[in-house]
Amino acid sequence: AIIVLISYQPKEYPTDYEQLSTDERIVIRFSHVVGENTPKGMAARKFAELVKERSNGYIEVQVFSNGTLYKDGEEMNALSRGDIQMIAPAISKLTELVPEISVLDLPYAFYTLDEVHEFVQSDAGNKLTDKLKNHNLLVVGLWDSGFKQISNSIRPIEHYSDLSGLRMRIMPSNILEEQYAAVNAQTKRIDFNTVFNQLQKRNVDGQENTLTNITSKNLFSLQNYLTISNHGYLGYFLLFNLDFWNSLPEDVQQLLTETLAEVQEWEWELTKQLNEEKLQDIENCQCIQIHYLSDEDQKEWEEKFEPVYDYYKNHYGDEFIKALPKNQQ
Ligand code: LMR
Repeated sequence: AIIVLISYQPKEYPTDYEQLSTDERIVIRFSHVVGENTPKGMAARKFAELVKERSNGYIEVQVFSNGTLYKDGEEMNALSRGDIQMIAPAISKLTELVPEISVLDLPYAFYTLDEVHEFVQSDAGNKLTDKLKNHNLLVVGLWDSGFKQISNSIRPIEHYSDLSGLRMRIMPSNILEEQYAAVNAQTKRIDFNTVFNQLQKRNVDGQENTLTNITSKNLFSLQNYLTISNHGYLGYFLLFNLDFWNSLPEDVQQLLTETLAEVQEWEWELTKQLNEEKLQDIENCQCIQIHYLSDEDQKEWEEKFEPVYDYYKNHYGDEFIKALPKNQQ
């Protein structure tokens, strides 16, 4: 489902689109839950700009950020109903629909973003994303948010045993639940847009997220300790309502496909850069105590997380685990 970059041959689109009503043009409503200044927020805007430019405004992508149109937890239904045509949810949020997808949630399944890209673009990855077609969802791309880091307000997390007893916010995913169960921490599934509030009310002690999400929602202002653990991937599948996609003329599908492939490459670079910048910012502000997990500690964490892999295999089989880049050769 992830598309290879082909050289772009523009088709002639009407230049008088401004006279056309929205019924005569193609309008794609794209809703997401994060801030404008995140990789997803910026890539969504870039995609909309390029599509407008290349179609002379005939195709209009309307981007709604920060959950202002539909909140986390509402956007999937809105997409199914056809109220919106496109979303880019965190992959963890698709695991309730297709549990096998939670292979991407497994702790230390990937060591680099390139490995994630390789896996998602492999035959196994395509097989995985194709399962969403049964739910009328077409995957048209993968955008990164990066690797997750752990923040909390109770104590520095160095050894995995430091997580014991903490109450952690997670996205809705059994694997994320199992990950924390393996280290005796508790979990609560909380919508992204209420994480700040729930941390403030002390209904949870901590959370895991990428640095761009942690900084753009100011989560670090409520937390005392941050561990750079890079233990899990957070990324997005770009989803179209499949019926809507199939209703589009072929040349429109082609323009969208090629533009998405280009924006995806751009987004991958942007994410690396932004997460590095955010780490610098957090270090400089000295507003939170940062611990970098050592290689030795990371090995211990990985061993401690082995039962999470067993859980996955017992429930969803081992096909996709075997296909992970780290299990190849
Ligand atoms: C989260 O819920 O933490 C993330 O999915 C938010 C996002 O979309 O990056």
